[in-house]
Amino acid sequence: MIFNILSTLLAANAIIFSIATAEVKPYEKIAFTNVGFDGTYFPVKKLSNIDSETKCTCEVADKVWFSGVNAPLSDYLSVHMRGPLSLFKFAFYSSPSFIVNNDRSSQDWTRQAYYDANSQTSENITFLAKAGNDSPCLGKALVYAASDGRSAASKSTILSSDNKLSSDQEYVIYSNVSCPKSGLDKGCGVYRNGIPAYYGFGGVTKMFLFEFTMPTETAKNSSSFEYYDMPAIWLLNDHIARTSQYPTNENCSCWASGCGEFDIFEIMNGTEKNHLYSTFHTYQGIEDLAIGIQSYGYIPRDTKNTMKGGVLFDSAGNTISFMSDDITFNSTYAVADINRVLSSIPVNETYSSQLLSVDVTAPTKSPMVFGII
Ligand SMILES: *[C@@H]1O[C@H](CO)[C@@H](O)[C@H](O)[C@H]1NC(C)=O
Ligand SMILES: *[C@@H]1O[C@H](CO)[C@@H](O)[C@H](O)[C@H]1NC(C)=O
Ligand SMILES: *[C@@H]1O[C@H](CO)[C@@H](O)[C@H](O)[C@H]1NC(C)=O
Ligand SMILES: *[C@@H]1O[C@H](CO)[C@@H](O)[C@H](O)[C@H]1NC(C)=O
Ligand SMILES: *[C@@H]1O[C@H](CO)[C@@H](O)[C@H](O)[C@H]1NC(C)=O
Ligand SMILES: *[C@@H]1O[C@H](CO)[C@@H](O)[C@H](O)[C@H]1NC(C)=O
Ligand SMILES: *[C@@H]1O[C@H](CO)[C@@H](O)[C@H](O)[C@H]1NC(C)=O
Repeated sequence: MIFNILSTLLAANAIIFSIATAEVKPYEKIAFTNVGFDGTYFPVKKLSNIDSETKCTCEVADKVWFSGVNAPLSDYLSVHMRGPLSLFKFAFYSSPSFIVNNDRSSQDWTRQAYYDANSQTSENITFLAKAGNDSPCLGKALVYAASDGRSAASKSTILSSDNKLSSDQEYVIYSNVSCPKSGLDKGCGVYRNGIPAYYGFGGVTKMFLFEFTMPTETAKNSSSFEYYDMPAIWLLNDHIARTSQYPTNENCSCWASGCGEFDIFEIMNGTEKNHLYSTFHTYQGIEDLAIGIQSYGYIPRDTKNTMKGGVLFDSAGNTISFMSDDITFNSTYAVADINRVLSSIPVNETYSSQLLSVDVTAPTKSPMVFGII
């Protein structure tokens, strides 16, 4: 996947070193610029013998290209939550055009999906959990999540008002728009038989907002935990969880070949258990996808109080993770209102870094056309 970017690696090292020497401090806003590039990934073509301990395997198809602003995160994305976490509000917004601090090139945001725990409102949302059929190479399949966000339900169910995930527990939020049937050339790609399959949240220019708590884990730490007291909110290319989020074979999802992940607020390790980092797991100028492109500043995790925050991907390649008590969840978000939230965060509370330009051009001229070549 990194064949064509060797020429940019020298520049990459220079930038990464200059960032790494900056002091790691708390911020309210983490900004990335120059987000999006032309690149490829390998979609899953076939899942074989998924119940067999010895023969469970997957095959990928030929590479597909993505290109343009925010790519590959311009594709449909699913929203993932890991505990300790309670979700009070969630909203997904899109805008035909929005450029941070440029009112003339911006149009208001429209809310397209919404969850409010208190009023038990759920619009254009499906909560899914990995609580289905367990496969040796794919792990557990997606099923409808019950109101606790963890166990299985027979139909789409709203998350309860007192929802709370503990360490290691996760659920996923998709839209309520059903996928066509599984198939390489179909809208949702190849996915596991029998799962509830929905589109994630699409568009180049998009914003995800959350009101939530991340209280300290009350259970004792032990080796049975994988992510003890390490909550996170993150986005994945919506194909990933429909095949496998944590496969034992890299070809069982498009993740390893770079179809896209962005971590909005993530605790990285137990040493820094109250530091929320943002990270791109894409191949934009880097070789090690697992490490990814990380912010070297963090947003503090408030373990006592409700936090309001989210991420905005604008139309000019700016990605901004931010936390602000001024966030609202109304059905439209006016240009001036969101700019006010962002600009009220002082410049010295903003950590900014630029992603590298990648010197490859997709063979198609139109962005968002995912041709199979
Ligand atoms: C999806 O959500 C929208 C917004 O709440 C609603 O109008 C629509 O009926 C829902 N569709 C389905 C299939 O549930
Ligand atoms: C629901 O979300 C999907 C995916 O982003 C979007 O295409 C659709 O228009 C939304 N539906 C409504 C009713 O807003
Ligand atoms: C994944 O697929 C590629 C291309 O078909 C193949 O070269 C590679 O060996 C596969 N990886 C695994 C772990 O099976
Ligand atoms: C914890 O994560 C941060 C952010 O990635 C990193 O800088 C730090 O070195 C990590 N600490 C340990 C002990 O791994
Ligand atoms: C929990 O225990 C693991 C080792 O089992 C350790 O790596 C981790 O830092 C601990 N977490 C906390 C928050 O103490
Ligand atoms: C959101 O709606 C509330 C109540 O209707 C209103 O007071 C507030 O000004 C709105 N905020 C924004 C940012 O639109
Ligand atoms: C920004 O400036 C304020 C006031 O001088 C200070 O309290 C704060 O620590 C600074 N933040 C950063 C990230 O340096």
